[in-house]
Amino acid sequence: MTASAPTHQAKGCILVAGATGFMGRFLAEASLESGKPTYVLVRPSSLCTSKAKVVKSLQDKGAIVLQGLIDDKDLLERMLKENEIEIVISAVGGANLLDQLPLIQAIKAVGTVKRFLPSEFGHDVDRANPVEPGLTMYKEKRAVRRLAEESGVPYTYICCNSIASWPYYDNTHPSEVTPPLDQFQIYGDGSVKAYFVAGSDIGKFTIKAAEDPRTLNKIVHFRPSSNFLNMNELASLWEKKIGRTLPRVTITEDHLLAAAAENCIPQSIVASFTHDIFIKGCQVDFSIDGPNEVEVTELYPNETFATVDKCFDQFAMGVDGQVVKPVAAAVGPEGVTTKTSSPVVEVPPIPAVC
Ligand SMILES: NC(=O)c1ccc[n+]([C@@H]2O[C@H](COP(=O)([O-])OP(=O)(O)OC[C@H]3O[C@@H](n4cnc5c(N)ncnc54)[C@H](OP(=O)(O)O)[C@@H]3O)[C@@H](O)[C@H]2O)c1
Repeated sequence: MTASAPTHQAKGCILVAGATGFMGRFLAEASLESGKPTYVLVRPSSLCTSKAKVVKSLQDKGAIVLQGLIDDKDLLERMLKENEIEIVISAVGGANLLDQLPLIQAIKAVGTVKRFLPSEFGHDVDRANPVEPGLTMYKEKRAVRRLAEESGVPYTYICCNSIASWPYYDNTHPSEVTPPLDQFQIYGDGSVKAYFVAGSDIGKFTIKAAEDPRTLNKIVHFRPSSNFLNMNELASLWEKKIGRTLPRVTITEDHLLAAAAENCIPQSIVASFTHDIFIKGCQVDFSIDGPNEVEVTELYPNETFATVDKCFDQFAMGVDGQVVKPVAAAVGPEGVTTKTSSPVVEVPPIPAVC
């Protein structure tokens, strides 16, 4: 079951399931950076794919690899005991959310895990009510919450809102691609605000919250005021980075609903969340005032969050050190949209950088 032998058995061990995934990698890297003994649970099949590189890079940073599946309750029970795991963070993807149910049973059976963080990392799924097919995913996240609560497993739910990036409505992992270089697609009138948090900060503050007694059995909302923007503001910010204006095309509510109704997975799920965020305002239509919820910047008032401005600076860096250079001639008068030529450097999809 163990791909690389544990080198230490220190207290406070963290297990990250889904560490080869988009969100899981931020979490595993933040755990390693915090200096905690970090185990990553990897499906054996991942080791034969391109994900093997991700596993190797985590190992090089000190991660201890355990092979297995979170839905294998007996194996998980053994792993949790043998490795004295105190914190379990799950970042399994949307297709595998219910695989967490046997994991919760294993955590309950072992009885020594001090905190479980299920695969949330988005909105408060008990509050938000997206159209289908996003709703089905939220119903599964809700089922995981209910089992954790009924089992008496100590938990924390991380509601980090959106990841800092251009929120493409038909793209599953928006921060893996650069913001637009041809035209902006603006949802509705572009005025509904959302919180855009750097992936590295989602990792960092998740690890802090996982060990914080103040977050026991609570929802942690991420609402850094410096990261609170609407689509129009995001577009203007990106225009400053690339030094030119781009056309803005309106994507209407009806268009997003039609894209969701196509039920093409996973793109339609993203369309339903996009509708929920940028048309309905699901990130901002409530106050954080319940007894079981806290806000991350109130927990850690002396910590700063990477701004969207900084994240966009990093997106403006292409691969191999090439930069999307400002094209002065293409910049239109303030507030006037211009049809523009190609950027100096076409930026291919790049890994999330912040
Ligand atoms: N706020 C945001 O903007 C945002 C953006 C993206 C995701 N999210 C949320 O973050 C969470 C993770 O999503 P993601 O997109 O990062 O997922 P992902 O990229 O699809 O990665 C899923 C990970 O889970 C692993 N996995 C799946 N089933 C497993 C099982 N039974 N046992 C062990 N490992 C298993 C996968 O392993 P393999 O390598 O073997 O496939 C992979 O490492 C979700 O809750 C999602 O809603 C939020």
